[in-house]
Amino acid sequence: MKAIVVRPPTPGVSFEDVPEPSMVPGTVKVRILENGVCGTDREVSAGRLLTARPPPGKDWMILGHEALGQVEKVGEGTSGLEEGDLVMPINRRGCGQCMNCQMGRPDHCETGGFRENGITELDGFMSETLIEQPRYLVVVPKNLRDIAILAQPLSDLVKSVDEMLHVQGRLHFQCEDYTLNCRRALVTGTGPIGMLVSMLLRTYGMKVYAANRREPKEVEKRIFSEVGVQYYNSSSGYGELYKEAGGMDVIFDTTGKADVIHSLLPLLRNNSFLAFFGFSSEGMMNLTSLDVQRLIFKGVAMVGLANGQKPHFERALWHLASWKTVWPEAVKMLITREVRVQEFDEVKRVLERKEEGEIKVKLIWS
Ligand code: BGC
Ligand code: ZN
Ligand code: ZN
Repeated sequence: MKAIVVRPPTPGVSFEDVPEPSMVPGTVKVRILENGVCGTDREVSAGRLLTARPPPGKDWMILGHEALGQVEKVGEGTSGLEEGDLVMPINRRGCGQCMNCQMGRPDHCETGGFRENGITELDGFMSETLIEQPRYLVVVPKNLRDIAILAQPLSDLVKSVDEMLHVQGRLHFQCEDYTLNCRRALVTGTGPIGMLVSMLLRTYGMKVYAANRREPKEVEKRIFSEVGVQYYNSSSGYGELYKEAGGMDVIFDTTGKADVIHSLLPLLRNNSFLAFFGFSSEGMMNLTSLDVQRLIFKGVAMVGLANGQKPHFERALWHLASWKTVWPEAVKMLITREVRVQEFDEVKRVLERKEEGEIKVKLIWS
């Protein structure tokens, strides 16, 4: 079968014929319809991601962890799925040893021995077909076909917002009317993750600011205006935002840049939550001991967040369904481009770098 192949840490991607895995009892065969491209795929392709390595015994790996497919064949001893079902694979597998992994939560693996498709020691989903056990597949409602690909990145964020609410359960986080309408959240970065988490935090009723170090792109303006998110140009820092809006209850960083994160510290309110979600290989921060004192006395919670699991995928799909009703334009605009896999030179360019105005790119197989 055809597949998009990487050989980390060697940079580069290629379109190759690879052996098709055989079906064993308890699995189904899925025909891949499309893949989403994520910043992580670009880091893997460039050989820059620390956790990127092929499966043991191989020097290559199929790329991709965002996929939508259709069940083509149901193997023996398989239940719960039928031919023709739309499905998405989840993209992290447990270590098989710790309790969290055994309970379906390898996003909290205790040993660090988990594997990730298309990233760490497991083939990814950018191939014509996929053989998978139903427990790793999420059924997708047919009328979400056009935007379902967003459910993988959104699953990471559903999990992350759950975690934020869980941690903030340490205080009375609700407002007087028991909503979250009085709580302010700042999202740094307006890539697909920044856009999706802004929408999700709005769904929870928070007042949301989204920042980038430039003027907003047309597509961002339109999305944020429909969703009710306020854009902030942070090219000269966050002083103006602080003056206008005050401190933040939640800051969700999607840039991963240490210097950006450092400049956010004065915005943190008492009992606030700072989420580290984005990762980058650039930047440096100079954290002083006085900064540490401030964080202590403000009671700031800082949490690193990655990876959603099956329940988060399922809820991500429900969010997408409701967004299709309340924010029909915005949700469609998140997918800025479709590229056919057969046009591999174009696929290569997409995997090399992000284009102006790009949010989510889909690779189309059939
Ligand atoms: C994926 C996550 C994954 C993370 C770290 C992200 O791009 O969407 O599910 O856990 O990368 O590898
Ligand atoms: Zn990703
Ligand atoms: Zn584990």
